[in-house]
Amino acid sequence: MQNELNKIAKDTNNFLKRFIKNQKKSELIIPMKYSLFSGGKKIRSKILIDIGSLFKLDYKSLIAIGSAVECIHAYSLIHDDLPCMDNDTIRRGKPSTHIKFGESTAVLAGNSLLTMAFEILSHKNLNISEKTKINLINKISESSGHLGIAGGQYLDLSYENKNVSKKKVIEMEIKKTGKLFSFCCVAPLILKKKDRREIKKFEDIGADIGLLFQVADDLIDYKGSLKIAGKKTGKDKKRGKATLINLLGYENTIRYANEIIYKINNKLKTYGSKSKNLSKTLNYILNRKK
Ligand code: IPE
Ligand code: IPE
Ligand code: MG
Ligand code: MG
Ligand code: MG
Repeated sequence: MQNELNKIAKDTNNFLKRFIKNQKKSELIIPMKYSLFSGGKKIRSKILIDIGSLFKLDYKSLIAIGSAVECIHAYSLIHDDLPCMDNDTIRRGKPSTHIKFGESTAVLAGNSLLTMAFEILSHKNLNISEKTKINLINKISESSGHLGIAGGQYLDLSYENKNVSKKKVIEMEIKKTGKLFSFCCVAPLILKKKDRREIKKFEDIGADIGLLFQVADDLIDYKGSLKIAGKKTGKDKKRGKATLINLLGYENTIRYANEIIYKINNKLKTYGSKSKNLSKTLNYILNRKK
């Protein structure tokens, strides 16, 4: 699992390095690279590859699409760490982008990473049809805006220090984190021109994977250490973040996360042994320490 993840991370980084190298230079490239290449897991690309392997898709195209996803993810973390959001000074064991380069530069590097995702997906070298490119861009935009990351981040911040129901916490976590995973699960089906019913099924699987991922992240904040996680822990409680751990307690949250894994594996049953990789990734997501 770790070897495979390392390979995908390396291939994704190489794609992004080449993509940036082929563009004209600008001052924002340095903070953009700082955020892209400072040691993120590239787990979203891994999910894309795992789902892609259910449908026998071209690895190279999946890496390109995963790279676009990682740009959006990197942008979301730069903004998430800003003083007006979570106000975090350490990310991946290094100073957060705004600490290193200043707030205005961090905001602009984040914006540029968001739009770079669309540059990648619309690029002439990406060997897929124009129609499919538009469908991918449509979906990834939806996952990033007010119905996805941005909307979820809004809820996350507005729920601080409030009593929020379990249903609302889950809805918030699915938006801020789940939707981008939904895109990763749906992109291979868009490439395969699958019908709306199947796309909906994988959208839901993606939302569950994203929810699992965010719950595991909340568990890391609760129990993990700065040294291993690469970011300050115990912050959710300090800031009064609405999390499932808050509502259910630590043990019950772990139980809940295992139920999510069970539910996803059930939905994957029809794919037989082809879904093994994805199942392993789900266990990795829950048991990881960073
Ligand atoms: C952290 O994401 C933020 C969440 C959405 C929970 P990752 O844990 O994927 O961050 P990196 O890229 O590996 O550092
Ligand atoms: C971030 O969630 C979700 C995003 C979409 C950026 P967190 O705020 O919990 O992520 P960390 O813990 O700072 O990485
Ligand atoms: Mg946050
Ligand atoms: Mg944060
Ligand atoms: Mg967190």
